[in-house]
Amino acid sequence: MSEELKTYAPDMVAGANAHVAGIAAYDALCKEAETDYEGFWARQARDLISWKTPFTKVLNESEAPFFKWFEDGTLNASYNCLDRNIERGLGDKTALIFEADGGEVTKITYSELLAKTCQIANGLKSLGIGKGDRVVIYISMSIDGVAAMQACARIGATHSVVFGGFSAQSLRDRIEDTGAKAVITADCQVRGGKQLPLKAIVDEALTLGGCESVQTVLVVNRANAAVTMKAGRDVWMNDVVASQPTTCEPEWVDAEHPLFLLYTSGSTGKPKGVQHSTGGYLLHAALTTKLTFDLKADDVFWCTADIGWVTGHTYITYGPLALGGTEIVFEGVPTFPDAGRFWKMIQDHKVSIFYTAPTAIRSLIKAAEANDAVHPKSYDLSSLRILGSVGEPINPAAWEWYHKHVGGGRCPIVDTFWQTETGGHMITPLPYATTLVPGSCTLPFPGIMAAIVDETGKDVPNGQGGILVVKRPWPSMIRTIWGDPERFKKSYYPDDFKGKYYLAGDGAIRDAKTGYFTITGRIDDVLNVSGHRMGTMEIESALVSCTELVAEAAVVGRPDDTTGEAICAFVVLKRPRPTGEEAKQIAKILRDHVGKEIGPIAKPKDIRFGDNLPKTRSGKIMRRLLRSLAKGEAITQDTSTLENPAILDQLGENN
Ligand code: PRX
Repeated sequence: MSEELKTYAPDMVAGANAHVAGIAAYDALCKEAETDYEGFWARQARDLISWKTPFTKVLNESEAPFFKWFEDGTLNASYNCLDRNIERGLGDKTALIFEADGGEVTKITYSELLAKTCQIANGLKSLGIGKGDRVVIYISMSIDGVAAMQACARIGATHSVVFGGFSAQSLRDRIEDTGAKAVITADCQVRGGKQLPLKAIVDEALTLGGCESVQTVLVVNRANAAVTMKAGRDVWMNDVVASQPTTCEPEWVDAEHPLFLLYTSGSTGKPKGVQHSTGGYLLHAALTTKLTFDLKADDVFWCTADIGWVTGHTYITYGPLALGGTEIVFEGVPTFPDAGRFWKMIQDHKVSIFYTAPTAIRSLIKAAEANDAVHPKSYDLSSLRILGSVGEPINPAAWEWYHKHVGGGRCPIVDTFWQTETGGHMITPLPYATTLVPGSCTLPFPGIMAAIVDETGKDVPNGQGGILVVKRPWPSMIRTIWGDPERFKKSYYPDDFKGKYYLAGDGAIRDAKTGYFTITGRIDDVLNVSGHRMGTMEIESALVSCTELVAEAAVVGRPDDTTGEAICAFVVLKRPRPTGEEAKQIAKILRDHVGKEIGPIAKPKDIRFGDNLPKTRSGKIMRRLLRSLAKGEAITQDTSTLENPAILDQLGENN
């Protein structure tokens, strides 16, 4: 963080009634958490969550790092998100405003959403699904998607949502790993005016083997797309739920009961099923929605994420609903019917809190600069009061544009750093409290003991970069990796720090003067492309699984103006190195292959062919050299241990 960077003081006039007004209020919360850590979280948990059986124990560290929070309390997440609000008189309040890809709008009140959720819950029960069962949800953005998640929570089934952009193979892997009893899907999803199949991909996934646990596939009818229904396995959602009662007694579960599994990429091996709890997770979803977004009764909240990612879980399905908020659920893409879609939706629905990813902002800047009609200035965005950013670092130029053109210079931007594993915000400004610095996620959320250490676990002084850790367990943290507790320990509580600190996998630096955090990027082999997280090894495995062509592959990331990072693959073929047109054709085949193995988001942007890869004499691929080649930089590093230096010239060429 350099000193020339501008700072933005919080607008205390606009935020006079904020939940956390002023830095002194933030400091007081942090102090409370420092002085009485368990007491702080217990107070929040009693304030924000309705417990069927109140907890008497707060934190159990006896089996660290398998921490337990509020373990003797029982609750139901769907009761907290729906019934509780209705009991508070919010039954007729709009819970969700759904805007479809074509612009059609559907609104649903809290009472209606509860009735729908109960019908789905009863439908699932009628199919023999209950507490402890896993349900995979492979659906696009919709009221049905949110209600399906809530319905699982209602009956104590653990949901695992798989993003609709993942391939049949990826879906299969997740179904197999969860041992799901049912899959909830739709005939298709609609994006940018096009119908993309969902049910057909489920069918394919189930034929790939390993999914014998699945007894039922429930299909929501999104757009009357043609589908094949397998007798005895596939049923239309409507046929199952239409005649079900609209009430369903919630299944009261222990606070530690797994609410959901969500798969994310690590640096090695296959994606890991991050397991989240019910009580601690829901608490942080509610608390961060309250404090980071300052959510109030008359706000219209819009998080543009997909429910297939953790952001959609916490800031669509759980957080805003737990507080009785009104929120937008959006289907489609930001650039259809044109790149003014976001601004038009903010105008039409009078959105007051808007939460999106830097990639989306960067692509919309380009479009707005080329065409005034899709520039935010052509829309009335005066309803906005808070803006948010998530998923990747936001570069100061995009921050300034977002602040000036979308926020009209008056809306604080909360740059929220967190992860699938953390369940909710970890380091973030609080609006109207924190002075903002573009490009910095500023300070830890109250109660989150984030710190920067060196390889030995020793604190590093401010101004010096290091490894981001969290020193104390917090309620919404990952509980384990589904079916692989050893991997959980190794990944997040490695021996390097004597198993004491949670290792985020990111590097960070604190400003020498302010102590503000800036995330410097992953310290492992995890890439972040358009805010989507992917392991280099996963993509390499997908490439080498094209066995007829590929002998060897290495994947690295390189900076990209729009997507943050881009995937660059270095490939050695089983045949002579192609050039020109032929290289282009083979690159296309490989891209499509990766799309089929993982999903379109994993397709490498850049594929380079070589006779070999740069390796040490002991055969280790020198990835740091590949990173430089991918960036188009001259190699200045020491290459004396390289077995085949000539290969660098060849791989440096863009075929
Ligand atoms: O590298 C960090 C980056 O995204 C990673 C987490 O990705 P995922 O689990 O997919 O969750 C994304 C949505 C929470 C982190 O390890 N990241 C996330 N938010 C930020 C960020 N990097 C910088 N600034 C952020 N605000």
